[in-house]
Amino acid sequence: MLTVALSKGRLLEPTLQFLTRAGIEVPEDILSSRRLLAPDVSGSYQFLLVKPMDLPTYVEYGVAATGICGRDVLLEVAPDLHQPLDLAFGRCRLVLAGRVGDRTQNHNLLSNTRVATKYPRVAERLFRSRGLPAEVIYLTGSVELAPNLGLAETILDLVETGRTLKENGLTILEEVAECTARAVVNRASFHIQHAEIDDFLGKLRRALM
Ligand code: PRP
Repeated sequence: MLTVALSKGRLLEPTLQFLTRAGIEVPEDILSSRRLLAPDVSGSYQFLLVKPMDLPTYVEYGVAATGICGRDVLLEVAPDLHQPLDLAFGRCRLVLAGRVGDRTQNHNLLSNTRVATKYPRVAERLFRSRGLPAEVIYLTGSVELAPNLGLAETILDLVETGRTLKENGLTILEEVAECTARAVVNRASFHIQHAEIDDFLGKLRRALM
């Protein structure tokens, strides 16, 4: 049996749709139930439902042999995992954003900024690579509030439809990275469970076509 970690939250529904298209039958009640460990219909897989930022840890420690994870999380956590497949769904962007008014006043929002984010390592790497001083303020959600309440001038966050930015009076200053869902595999499991993992990745690959 192959243990597959799945991200709760925004990626879960498209992930389940993708798995169904790949011929992997996840239990029907997986979205409604509170179970965090669920077997598939055939008994070939069991699925772990975990917080997106924790997913790489479960796979790195081999608790799950494989998983489906957003690239935003992989950029932040930088885990030591095989990343054999871009699954092309869950497309969104990591962006720097600031208040619409600040932008139109032509302030250089990126110099000497405080940046609020759920992605502190990505933010630190970005500003350090440019030699720009920035104070990174780590938040776990509702990041879009920060510029409006004076907690930070900018945010580094995920944008999918752009609705959250718009409804909070923010605008994109710069696109930092394109993100989609990725298949990740534990390096040891890749050898130990090679046949099962190969079969799983083959199904995902065929669903991509
Ligand atoms: C993400 C992100 C934005 C929102 C963007 O949060 O942090 O807040 O989605 O989506 P939009 O461009 O379609 O409006 P998410 O919903 O993943 O929730 P979280 O804050 O709980 O992490």
